[in-house]
Amino acid sequence: MITPVRVAITGPAGQIGYALVFRIASGQMFGPKTPVILQMLEITPALEALNGVAMELEDCAFPLLADMVLTDDAETAFRDANVVCLVGAKPRGPGMERADLLKDNGKIFTGQGRAIAAVAADDVRVAVVGNPANTNSLIAAANADGVATERFTAMVRLDENRAKSQLAKKAGVPVSEVTNLAVWGNHSPTMVPDFENAKIGGKVLTDVIDDRAWLEGEFMTTVQQRGKAIIDARGASSAASAANALIDHVATWCGGRATADGDWVSMAVPSDGSYDVPEGLISGFPVTTDGNGSYEIVQGVDLSDFAKGRIQASIDELQDERDAVGDML
Ligand code: NAD
Ligand code: LMR
Repeated sequence: MITPVRVAITGPAGQIGYALVFRIASGQMFGPKTPVILQMLEITPALEALNGVAMELEDCAFPLLADMVLTDDAETAFRDANVVCLVGAKPRGPGMERADLLKDNGKIFTGQGRAIAAVAADDVRVAVVGNPANTNSLIAAANADGVATERFTAMVRLDENRAKSQLAKKAGVPVSEVTNLAVWGNHSPTMVPDFENAKIGGKVLTDVIDDRAWLEGEFMTTVQQRGKAIIDARGASSAASAANALIDHVATWCGGRATADGDWVSMAVPSDGSYDVPEGLISGFPVTTDGNGSYEIVQGVDLSDFAKGRIQASIDELQDERDAVGDML
């Protein structure tokens, strides 16, 4: 009998939460043999809706769903948790930038960081989705005394997936042919999907897509503005694709799905000073993982002056966000 993984999820009654918990319970995050215990944290007014989600989870009769916890108390939700998915936060509406959410959402992550430090398992790993995700992760890490900072990450995998789909469509190949696509910097319009080091079918991507104007222009803008395009079309922010990317993020980090030889994925992780990103900022980088809880920032990626300039702008923005929440760190 494999010991169940305790997965805490905040905001499970929300849009992303509803697209996420069934997939975790069905084995897509930790594989088809690993039982899970879902420890779900909602705000008090949403507990009744969460109760409905839990009823539906029961009605799926998932063989891997070992238990559920439904609560509005962070320490109850995070107790002994091996993985914490911090999703619960306000989404932006039309006309807003993600950074506009900082004042409202940032404070959620001070208390949740403290609760993680107080009661989560020694091996806890944290993935932040609630926006602005990089800086919220920074806030949670800063408030989680005693938990190694590198356990706090934020999600840029949705941006990677978006970029790969656009590139595959342009090249007329299956999306699985696109590899080594890293998203650097902030999960914001300044993010940098690095097409220069990406590959298609093992070849240098820019040899296959020989249209620099499209790559620098329409491609970059489509990826950077995809969140807004979805809000404009749906009237609500991305949910199923965000949940899917979170499954990818956690599965690759600690759900047994290590990065393939020679490939990398994008994770926003605390900088160790690599590529001159100031230490501690939570920035998108190319990483390799062992699927068992470790990741490493890939070293030696050759960045052009074009890429360096764009990444610097995103790092400057992350520094501004860090300054704006100085009182929460
Ligand atoms: P939603 O409003 O549908 O759901 C949010 C849920 O969180 C609600 O059920 C709410 O009750 C709950 N919640 C709020 N505060 C909470 C708290 N303190 N503790 C626990 N639960 C709490 O929003 P959504 O569409 O699910 O989006 C959630 C967040 O994810 C937003 O901030 C959104 O901008 C962000 N997001 C990030 C990405 C990314 O790529 N990083 C992608 C999509 C959405
Ligand atoms: C996204 O990228 O879809 C999310 O961050 C939601 C948003 O506000 O754009």
